[in-house]
Amino acid sequence: MSIVIAIDGPAASGKGTLARAIAQELGFAHMDTGALYRASAYELIKAGMSARDKTDALKAAQILVKKIKAADMPDDILGKPSLREDRIGQKASIIAAYPKVREALNILQQDFAASPPRPYKGAVLDGRDIGTVICPDADVKIFVTADDEVRAQRRTKELQSRGLDVTYEAVLKDMRERDARDTARTAAPMKQAPDAYVLDTSALTQAEMLSQALEIIREKVQI
Ligand code: CDP
Repeated sequence: MSIVIAIDGPAASGKGTLARAIAQELGFAHMDTGALYRASAYELIKAGMSARDKTDALKAAQILVKKIKAADMPDDILGKPSLREDRIGQKASIIAAYPKVREALNILQQDFAASPPRPYKGAVLDGRDIGTVICPDADVKIFVTADDEVRAQRRTKELQSRGLDVTYEAVLKDMRERDARDTARTAAPMKQAPDAYVLDTSALTQAEMLSQALEIIREKVQI
């Protein structure tokens, strides 16, 4: 049985960076599940479909699933830098509220957790509903948080370093909108699993964040 580590949390909380670092440290495979929603939104826009239409959104998710299954290197599809743009994040969060879209993407995530690609001996998944819906039996669950302002600063820096013309105010506004939508939706809302450890990263460096997370993990599982 593969060891599964579930990392959830709001936008720009540090969960993606943390999940990648944990995976590297432990020799586990990593899946950024937000990229599945972002890549579905990308397919939707590319096909000229509407995020307000549930059927269009499902079609886009199905196109993505087909592409991933057929791809030798799914990372090429999910790692596209343009997926990180805010307009994609907003559309991703609109279509992520449709139960059928979630259903279409859930299987990929659950398969990855149950059988991570060889030679990895475990899986780290980061998202919004990993500890609650995708892997309720995960060996370790961490819910990563940080203050709104800190998160908006981080995201602004990230986007600016990619050459995007964004302001802190606009990023903060979009982020709050997306968090509110992700928390309020009825389908797999973003919430902390009752058995999750909360890690507030507001005042932590990346190295501190990793060492605290590893401490939590090593308390729960023998690695
Ligand atoms: O990187 P950031 O935290 O800003 O976002 P992300 O993890 O790439 O996710 C983009 C959007 O996809 C989120 O705002 C959610 O609406 C949705 N999402 C989700 O519903 N469930 C997940 N497991 C992951 C992402």
